[in-house]
Amino acid sequence: MKKANSVQNAMDKGQVYYAGLGGPGSQMIGEEEEKEVVEVIRSRILARDRFEKVRQFYKVRTFEDKFGEYMGAKHALGVVNATQGLVIAMAALGIGPGDEVIVPAYTFIATAAAVVAVRAVPILAEVDASLGLDPADVEAKITDRTKCILPVHMKGAPCRMDELVEIKNKHNLKMVEDVAQACGGSYQGKKLGTFGDAGVFSFDFWKVITTGGGGMIITNDYNVYKTCVHYHDHGHEVYRQNEDLGERPLIGLNFRMEELEGAMGLAQLAKLDYIVATMRKNSRILWEAVKDIDLFVQRDIPDMAGDIGNGLTLILKTPELGKAFSQKLAARGVEREWLRESGWHNYANWKQILKKKTISQDGCPFTCPRYSGRVEYYAGMCPQTDDILARTVTICYNNLLHINDAEMQELILKIRTICKELKA
Ligand SMILES: Cc1ncc(COP(=O)(O)O)c(C=O)c1O
Repeated sequence: MKKANSVQNAMDKGQVYYAGLGGPGSQMIGEEEEKEVVEVIRSRILARDRFEKVRQFYKVRTFEDKFGEYMGAKHALGVVNATQGLVIAMAALGIGPGDEVIVPAYTFIATAAAVVAVRAVPILAEVDASLGLDPADVEAKITDRTKCILPVHMKGAPCRMDELVEIKNKHNLKMVEDVAQACGGSYQGKKLGTFGDAGVFSFDFWKVITTGGGGMIITNDYNVYKTCVHYHDHGHEVYRQNEDLGERPLIGLNFRMEELEGAMGLAQLAKLDYIVATMRKNSRILWEAVKDIDLFVQRDIPDMAGDIGNGLTLILKTPELGKAFSQKLAARGVEREWLRESGWHNYANWKQILKKKTISQDGCPFTCPRYSGRVEYYAGMCPQTDDILARTVTICYNNLLHINDAEMQELILKIRTICKELKA
């Protein structure tokens, strides 16, 4: 994709603004976002559709087109966020009461909550050293109620897509990919989000690119796209032009992305290649400088070329080493995350899911007459995931876009010193 000159200039000058809070996209907010957003404000048209006689542009539609093109998907639909995007995509694929959806035990809670929102039952499967779904455990968890597999590409790296797609095909299942944390990532040259029936992205403030809040659904199936459009906008047709009364294909709600987010998205998408290339380069430099240390291995990335490099994720030999390594990094001021303590990314902390506390008083979907299974959740139910999370530490998940040479050397020295201490 050709970048606007001003974007290129800003990147050449390395203009990264790090507030210490948000994800990579937020660190690149600059003149380009300002220009796009101001254009929308000056147009005074903040809605994604309609006003066709007076408007001069459609930011959301253009963002959708460019995003779809970038990902190599036929259709893209901007939505309010990824959580709801997952709900819409699953609903459009016909997933509902009585169905089971296999989700990883390591993902943000929203993935499992979205399954409950369509009144299906999340079945937790183990992750392996890739931090993505373990194909063997997915296969083991399949029942005659399984309708969908939901791989989540955590921390910028692809899951084992060959094997997962094979399982999907073998059992004739649907697949929705949660790409919230891996926008721009790929597997064997194909962009993440294009392997299943739909892929869902997040543009919240902590993500690879951001619109503040927002998400995108991509699919190659026009019928799925159309149903997503209907459901996400009161049943209205694609690119609606009016408010005519009359019957709609289905009862929809409102989960639209609107023009201000679309404008942000356009400016951010133009920076995605730069963000990914920079993080990838820096994460490789960091790994090359520490890979001789025998206390850890890098997480198992099924396709290195497709990793976007937002952080370096290391798996230590024991949980004790994982904890100590993380504590020592923190004591030296290094941005790090010990995955065991990654809050609502660890299923053991999903208290309301473990206790099946849904909004419906009667406990639907778990008690739904259409559901013939029985599921129990408890901390400890995924021992392989527990073990991996307890041994895994991610370094610099937000820093790698702007780290300079001196900071990199200092970081490498800190890691080496810590490892010497751990061995002593
Ligand atoms: C893996 C994963 N899925 C889904 C979401 C939900 O994204 P959103 O904030 O856009 O609803 C997140 C956000 O943190 C996430 O990390």
